[in-house]
Amino acid sequence: MKQNILALTILCLCISSIPLSSAQEQTLPCTFRMMDGFYECFLNAVSTPNNELWNFAFTGTHIAGQSNAGVTRLNIQGSRSYFIIRQAFTTFVNLRVYSFTAPIAGNVMRFQADAFQNANMLEQIIINGAGLNTIFPNALIGAPNLQVLNLQNNLLTSLPNSLLDLSYRLTTCNLMQNQLTEIHQTFFARTTNITNINLNNNQLTSLPQILLSQTRLIVQFHAQSNQINAIGRRFLDNLNALTTLNLLGNACVSQNFPNINSGNINDVHTALQNCYNNYGGSVEPRSFRMNLRGMMTLWREDGTLVGRL
Ligand SMILES: *[C@@H]1O[C@H](CO)[C@@H](O)[C@H](O)[C@H]1NC(C)=O
Repeated sequence: MKQNILALTILCLCISSIPLSSAQEQTLPCTFRMMDGFYECFLNAVSTPNNELWNFAFTGTHIAGQSNAGVTRLNIQGSRSYFIIRQAFTTFVNLRVYSFTAPIAGNVMRFQADAFQNANMLEQIIINGAGLNTIFPNALIGAPNLQVLNLQNNLLTSLPNSLLDLSYRLTTCNLMQNQLTEIHQTFFARTTNITNINLNNNQLTSLPQILLSQTRLIVQFHAQSNQINAIGRRFLDNLNALTTLNLLGNACVSQNFPNINSGNINDVHTALQNCYNNYGGSVEPRSFRMNLRGMMTLWREDGTLVGRL
């Protein structure tokens, strides 16, 4: 009996080790071409197995004078992929853009933990409509030069708080059309160069007081068509570069502010009074707020206007 169990155990070990000892390989046939200023590997209608252990080998004929080192964009369209193809970053060592668009219907993607581990040169991640539903907290750690993160039209319900903690160079973050119910107050704490944030068409219910406290260069903030019913009273403090604040279709405010400047910022604050009032009232300091921008505006602690001088 004991021997049988031992034999069975050995048999099981052998079987489970087979895929590891002979990693399966799939070739990905690139069409190499110049497009939009990139020398790219274009992949159309490929389908990868849902198994991270597979090796993916890019093949194809380069145009004259080019090589893998010259490839700056991976452009995958009309395809099925369950995760980021890591071999892209070791094959094309100067890759700037990883783009996966127009996937096969029903595609379900994840950013595996070490998805971008060799992506030192990567500047843009574009994963659109791919059914992306999981992002591991350190997924972007290997892409310190990321400038654009575009995850529009996916199935994200939450984001790891620390996802962008090393993304110092990020300028654009597009999370439009997902199912986010919350965005953590420190999510953008390290992205001090960001100019454009798009959270349109999610299910956010509030905008935390300090969400933008470190993003002093922000020009556009979009959060249309959410369910926002509360906004921290200092949400807009010191955002001197902000020109566009889009909040149409929310619970406490339904308006877009397309031309913000120092002359009309107080009108924005006035329009946001309901939102401010709904935001964790008792934790606000018990004092008047003075806003000295050409004129002085006095608010009561409950957010109602005392007057302007
Ligand atoms: C932030 O932007 C400035 C101006 O474009 C640039 O000089 C600086 O290197 C950027 N910082 C980072 C961390 O990318």
